[in-house]
Amino acid sequence: MKAPLVRAPRSAVLVLLSLVLSLVAGATAAIPATATAATAATIATYDFESGTQGWGPRGAGVSVATAPAPAHGGTGALLTTGRTATWHGAAVTPPFEKGVAYEVTGWARAADGSPSSTVALTVQRTPAGGEAVYERVAAAVVTDAAWVRLSGTYTYAADSELSLYAESSGETVGFLLDDIVVTADTDPTRSGLTSDFETGTVQEWAPRGGSVLAAGAASARTGSYGLGVTNRQASWDGPSRNVLGRVAKGSKYTLSVWVRSAAAQSLGLSAERRLGGTPAYERVAAPRALAAGEWTELTGTYTLAHDVDFLSVYVESAEGTEPFDVDDFRLVYVEPKPIQTDIPALKDKLPFTIGAAFYRGATLGEHAKLITRHYESVTPGNSLKWDATEPAEGEFTFADGDHLVDWATANGLEFRGHTLVWHSQTPAWVFEGATKEILLRRLENHIRAVMGRYKGRIGTWDVVNEVVDENRADGLRRSPWYEIAGLDYIRTAFRVAREVDPDATLVINDYNTEFPRKRQALYDLVRKLRAEGVPIDAVGHQLHVNVEQPPASYIEDTIEKFARLGVEQQVTELDVSVYTDFTSSYDTVPAGVLALQGHRYKEIFDVFRRQARHLSSVTIWGVADDATWLSSFPITRLNPPLPFDDELQAKPAYWGIADPGRLPPVSRSLNAPAGTVAVDGKRDEQWDLLPGAPIARTGDLSAAWQARTTPAGLYVLAEVTDPTDDRTDTVTFTVGDTPYRIQRGGTHAHGFRAHTKKTATGYRAEALLPSGTATGVRVAVADAGRKETAWTGEVVPLPAIRTTSAPKGAPVVDGVVDAAWNRVPEATTGTRIQGTSGATARVRAMWKAGTLHVLARVTDPVLSEESPNAWEQDSVEIFVDPENNKSKGYDDDDGQYRISFTGKKTVGGTFDAFAVKDNLTGAATRVAGGYVVEAAIRLPTVTLAQDVLLGFDVQVNDATGTARTAAATWNDPTGRSYADTSRWGVLRLAK
Ligand code: XIL
Repeated sequence: MKAPLVRAPRSAVLVLLSLVLSLVAGATAAIPATATAATAATIATYDFESGTQGWGPRGAGVSVATAPAPAHGGTGALLTTGRTATWHGAAVTPPFEKGVAYEVTGWARAADGSPSSTVALTVQRTPAGGEAVYERVAAAVVTDAAWVRLSGTYTYAADSELSLYAESSGETVGFLLDDIVVTADTDPTRSGLTSDFETGTVQEWAPRGGSVLAAGAASARTGSYGLGVTNRQASWDGPSRNVLGRVAKGSKYTLSVWVRSAAAQSLGLSAERRLGGTPAYERVAAPRALAAGEWTELTGTYTLAHDVDFLSVYVESAEGTEPFDVDDFRLVYVEPKPIQTDIPALKDKLPFTIGAAFYRGATLGEHAKLITRHYESVTPGNSLKWDATEPAEGEFTFADGDHLVDWATANGLEFRGHTLVWHSQTPAWVFEGATKEILLRRLENHIRAVMGRYKGRIGTWDVVNEVVDENRADGLRRSPWYEIAGLDYIRTAFRVAREVDPDATLVINDYNTEFPRKRQALYDLVRKLRAEGVPIDAVGHQLHVNVEQPPASYIEDTIEKFARLGVEQQVTELDVSVYTDFTSSYDTVPAGVLALQGHRYKEIFDVFRRQARHLSSVTIWGVADDATWLSSFPITRLNPPLPFDDELQAKPAYWGIADPGRLPPVSRSLNAPAGTVAVDGKRDEQWDLLPGAPIARTGDLSAAWQARTTPAGLYVLAEVTDPTDDRTDTVTFTVGDTPYRIQRGGTHAHGFRAHTKKTATGYRAEALLPSGTATGVRVAVADAGRKETAWTGEVVPLPAIRTTSAPKGAPVVDGVVDAAWNRVPEATTGTRIQGTSGATARVRAMWKAGTLHVLARVTDPVLSEESPNAWEQDSVEIFVDPENNKSKGYDDDDGQYRISFTGKKTVGGTFDAFAVKDNLTGAATRVAGGYVVEAAIRLPTVTLAQDVLLGFDVQVNDATGTARTAAATWNDPTGRSYADTSRWGVLRLAK
């Protein structure tokens, strides 16, 4: 996002009431202080305790700065010197709104040694399209002996540009100001704003940049008028509305506006704030893709967290300069709900330090109360990242960092510094023209400056962030850091960090560390570097997980593995997305999903409690659902991932941590395909087609279970982890109301078939339950009657999972069917997911070394590549889940590999397909009545061998002109193969 530094002229656009303003005040020091009405609201306070708060010099040669003494209150005042004219002084953009009556009070005195003069507060007001007028607010005679009170009122009636300034009758007098307070009878920061353009004018809206605004009937959504925006010069160019004075620092507002565009484009709502001419931009509503010609509402919330002397909201596009229409803008004050004080503090419930990621806005109001009540540690979400602290070489900006560290220190909170070295949110200059030597010097300078500033106050630092890529042989991410400096950038970062603050805990931080492959890659790196003497004190597990995945056992296995390395561990960025994929979005999150999230928090915190001796802290990535990175990552959607909702109230997720006894019940569901097994305690291949559903661990008892449906009943399997073998250990399946109890070591049961068998970590129980039609199931696993854990939910009967096999071999990959394919069994795409007829494919697969070969012979006489979307062109998609773990969303190494009839290749995976995008090669040829696709898919994350099972599916897309008119798959009937791997079939590798 970029924006012009010059404020857009507002002149041409306003139809003005030509009102002569009565200048209400010209108070003198003789008038005693007026008592402020009880209902008055404080609009602004300038106490000069933290900088000049937006005040700057007026007139050439004037200087304005905070002075420590004498101060009227506190320890700072504003000193103005260098004046050479009566109108020289100190000026600020006042938070005055048209039509509101303000009272302004303040204190002034002459600078030490300056003679007596009259100091006045004056407004320079420039009506739109008119000449400046000067309106006195307050004045008093001052000397350098004592503070003198200024007091007056101010109001104005026509749209104008304002500057409030202090001046003196003595041309060269230096003077001090302090404790200037602006109050109003009605609080304009509570009353909100609307714009409907029904006056037939652009109302208070002004163009940014060169755009042209006009009220017109053709732009109306409701009523007779809307606002047309044309002639835009840049994506940020468009209509803006000044909201200074209508928004109070620390208060929350909802903003909404309707937008429409003839061209398809994405529009969003943003805010620009400035202090002393320095702009900053914030998103209010992330850009939304508009359907051409349709009105769409943009809504978002905004909390002003900074001092400002300029504040506006504006509509902009994600890209391009297409015109658009705007109507029905609203800004509404949101009365904060008080935080709950009758619920336990999280910090009282946990045996390790509990923290939250925070930001400037969260140090105000109810958010601040929530943090200090529940948390013991804070991490800034963005304020200490490189782009925030050193945007240009050697130019450090610590305003936000200082504020957050000061606030945390004042509130007795521990502080985690995040983060010194990362590939993201790092300005381009860092890598520009960098040799290894230059890069390491920049790195060292950065760490010395940032860490040095907070030495002794920031106890823990994420020194390097996200440096591991488990898909590389050496396990290292190919970032510019790595490309330029190899592993030495990590070594240097830790060495310098240790030198700067020997007492700080130094962390290597990463995501997905709970997944086995990444876990191993990070483990190997940490072990190697520590063996070299690199001062890595701790491993940080980010833990961005979702309501279903990964299993809690992965997290526990990771913590146990690093514990064996003797390294300290922290959970650094925990949140629980309500989505399992990268595409879905809810309008309202169902209560059942929030309950599931609560149970997920519980099982995760059960892990943390069991592993507490290995964890020095756990940080949740956010304060409350009103501000979370997941509302815009990886796409813009409603995603509340935290323990407190967007009104800061406790959710099931909170109870999952604080008191699981108060969690709402959850109903799970288990896919139960048709299938049969031998009930003999042996694990048939049928059971390997799907992963088991975890049954939460308690102590060292845990289990995973599965079911298959047949007309004869329900085949069930429980794999129980229970190291102590006791004949009174049991698994009880209750189907409907009928309990079926299986005893450990048993080889039969009363009234149904059952069998158990010892395994490496416990035992396996298998049975055939004469279930009838009941689908409600409870699976309870008990350890000698002492401990019990259970799964409760519905069994969902599904068709059998299709399987086929791939013998070993490799063809020439050219789209020509060679003899190597002859002995390979064939599958067909007989599952319609779109249309009732259309293209089909006959599919075969082979494997050799690390590569899977797939042949698809497509019957489709009419071929088209006209759609801009690859999936709407005639093409074949091959889906591969190398671990066949059938997760709902895509794991890193799950891939969607597409080849069109002309041989065009496209790859999908997780949102950026990071780990799979280079895996596909292949070719296509046209044949009579259709085409042939040959694909070669590298699968580097697993070892291909006989009997290995791959999650696998094939989809044929049938296009007619620019649209896809039919599609069919081999196994998955859901039409969601591109986002969800759980219904794919299975490919068995054969000899
Ligand atoms: C996120 C912040 O929360 C967002 O506000 C920002 O826009 C992007 O970064 N892993 C990390 C964090 O280490 O720094 C990221 O934080 C989330 C992923």
